[in-house]
Amino acid sequence: MERRTFLTRITGFILGLIGLALSIPLVGYVVSPAFRRQAQDWAEAGGVHELSVGDPKELSYLVTLQDGWMKTTAVKSVWAVRQPDESVTVFSPLCTHLGCGYHWDSDDREFKCPCHNSIFDITGRVLSGPAPRPLDRLPFKVEKERLFVIYKQFKSGTSKQIEL
Ligand code: FES
Repeated sequence: MERRTFLTRITGFILGLIGLALSIPLVGYVVSPAFRRQAQDWAEAGGVHELSVGDPKELSYLVTLQDGWMKTTAVKSVWAVRQPDESVTVFSPLCTHLGCGYHWDSDDREFKCPCHNSIFDITGRVLSGPAPRPLDRLPFKVEKERLFVIYKQFKSGTSKQIEL
């Protein structure tokens, strides 16, 4: 092999290695968001003082969701209950049967789903109907009398709680 050919090939090989080394982090930066789970921060859902003891309230709030490369803002709601001992419970607004929205019946003091008539008590326990598990509880924290929630969705129709 001639000296010139050898130098051309070795230069091309070294440049190829440099290009490869530079492209790996770039490809990782571009592709990795697609494999990341939908990320979200704590969202402020309202004031704890708005909740009356034993009287569930539906709280609506804005949440920012990061899904891959897309950042979206959506209105979400949760059901929050202030218990007699001042603790708070936050439920997903979706029925565990097939994901319909349910409501609080203040006369019967039960959560009722209009789709297939599942009924839950104030603790989220199933009283009747096809719902396979209690209402899903959501993570929350209270800071300076404000309620912060992380909205999560779970697979409907299963007895086990499976986060989506
Ligand atoms: S979706 Fe609620 S009972 Fe079917």
